Amino acid sequence: MVKIQPETVGLGAELPRHVGIIMDGNGRWATRRGLPRKLGHRAGMERLRGLIRFSSDIGIEVLSLYAFSTENWKRPKEEVGALFELFMEYFLSELDDLHKNGVCIRIMGDMSAFPEKMQRAMEEAMTKTANNPGLKLNIALNYGSRAEVVRATNILVQKGEPVDEKSLMNALYTAGLPDLDLIIRTAGERRLSNFMLLQAAYAELVFTDVTFPDLTDEEYASCIREYQHRTRRFGAVVEK
Ligand code: IPE
Ligand code: IPE
Ligand code: MG
Repeated sequence: MVKIQPETVGLGAELPRHVGIIMDGNGRWATRRGLPRKLGHRAGMERLRGLIRFSSDIGIEVLSLYAFSTENWKRPKEEVGALFELFMEYFLSELDDLHKNGVCIRIMGDMSAFPEKMQRAMEEAMTKTANNPGLKLNIALNYGSRAEVVRATNILVQKGEPVDEKSLMNALYTAGLPDLDLIIRTAGERRLSNFMLLQAAYAELVFTDVTFPDLTDEEYASCIREYQHRTRRFGAVVEK
């Protein structure tokens, strides 16, 4: 499945298994160019295709993308509407290619807030790609980590299952997937903004100043390289 040997793009062999990207700065990208924010979101969507492809080609197992947070409803109605429209446009135009490339799609978040048509398209995409062997692509849409934990806890309570670390982690959207190894946030902000807080327990955080539409494959690779220079201890003593 790996189409680019990581070494050929200057990466060591020890890749993160699970990468999360907080795709921030679309608005600033547009504003700096004197364009409406919506065009920044479009530019961001256009960059997505390449980043997903690159992740899959170098052999990343899981890619989690923060597309819309539970707090993003605070934005003007117009912007929220434009975001969903763009998302649907992107989703429908990319789905066949993603499927052909063996990508397995999982939407994380409360989809009930979206129009019926959008919900159906997402359900279909998840079902269609469920058994694909390639990159696992999680799209966090109307997602918040706190809401995810509440949902998971309710699932366990309803089933009458004891709440322990294992059952809780298995009731999250990421059930069965490895924890995050690396979180990249673009546009200079240094916070998690309610993104996958439990899965990030021991993730390495890498911040880059470039806005999301400017996150080239090279810049993305350089974030992965920074991760590869970190020493991970997981609470233990590691000699290095
Ligand atoms: C994209 O960047 C993230 C989304 C919520 C879609 P922003 O829209 O947050 O861009 P900035 O932070 O205002 O520049
Ligand atoms: C986080 O970005 C959410 C997404 C990238 C989808 P925001 O731009 O909403 O985060 P804050 O408000 O700066 O923390
Ligand atoms: Mg932002």
